[in-house]
Amino acid sequence: MEHLFSMEELSTEEIMRLVNRAIKFKNEGFRPFNDTKTVANLFYENSTRTKLSFEMAERQLGMNSLPFEVSTSSVQKGESLYDTCKTLEAIGCDALVIRHPENNYYDQLEGLNIPVINGGDGSGSHPTQCLLDLVTIYERFGRFEGLKVVIAGDILHSRVARSNQQALTQLGAEVVFSAPEVWQDASIDCPFVNLDDVIEDADIVMLLRVQHERHHEHESFTKEEYNKAYGMNQERYAKMKENAIIMHPAPVNRDVEISSELVECDKSVIFPQMTNGVYARMSILHELLSERPARIAPLPEEETAEDVSFTFSNAKKRGIALD
Ligand code: CP
Repeated sequence: MEHLFSMEELSTEEIMRLVNRAIKFKNEGFRPFNDTKTVANLFYENSTRTKLSFEMAERQLGMNSLPFEVSTSSVQKGESLYDTCKTLEAIGCDALVIRHPENNYYDQLEGLNIPVINGGDGSGSHPTQCLLDLVTIYERFGRFEGLKVVIAGDILHSRVARSNQQALTQLGAEVVFSAPEVWQDASIDCPFVNLDDVIEDADIVMLLRVQHERHHEHESFTKEEYNKAYGMNQERYAKMKENAIIMHPAPVNRDVEISSELVECDKSVIFPQMTNGVYARMSILHELLSERPARIAPLPEEETAEDVSFTFSNAKKRGIALD
């Protein structure tokens, strides 16, 4: 793997390697990289979970995370995404994590020589969310084959729906969507159903956030109406199978996608998903970077003290190309 742009590009073997490594890191522990690699997290859209769990994963692996704020960077002077990324490559970053409002923004990055991890592109895909969801499902059920999954909510604007539908189907699960007509997406090959017709059989009810910030039209239902028709509430909760789980990528609109009192109910794995996000992201960083030496690093301790510095000449001496 050179980059992680979307789930579509991963084979089943690669997905399972990433999932199993995340679970191993969580249950058996992990070691930091042998050298100090540097990553920059570029978030052109707001984030709490993805940004901070990447930072946590990076720190756990002994990496430096370079702070980058779009609002105070030269993006404000009109610098392109490509030039910003080439700059970060030139100053020695080993990898970039990018969230951007444009679908397929990564198509602009051909010519970059360091790995890019997609932290979400517009309404395109969110592969690291998908991987943490897969880790959570595999941890609970020990399989994907034959699981019945309903993904409910704002399918049209969701990057999570597309990634999860594709990956779960590839892994042998049966996936259906449930959404108001206005948020259905005919471009995804997946049946739309009434949530009440599948709630009793579903192993996984995956709720999606109503993405108000991507809606240009007036929403024609109140939050109570939405919750009654498409959300998780006590009535639907009572119909769920004993071992079924409720997922949500969060942030949650409480009392919209899910009644507030059910956010931390027995069947909810919403917060465990976030915990697994750290291990899933560690697994991805490990996959992309474990075989690559840090592009800028001090000489090892046994070398003479005066040689030990964080300079480019030092990197050159060690034969590490910076361009
Ligand atoms: N689930 C998710 O991507 O959350 P953030 O937007 O907070 O990163």
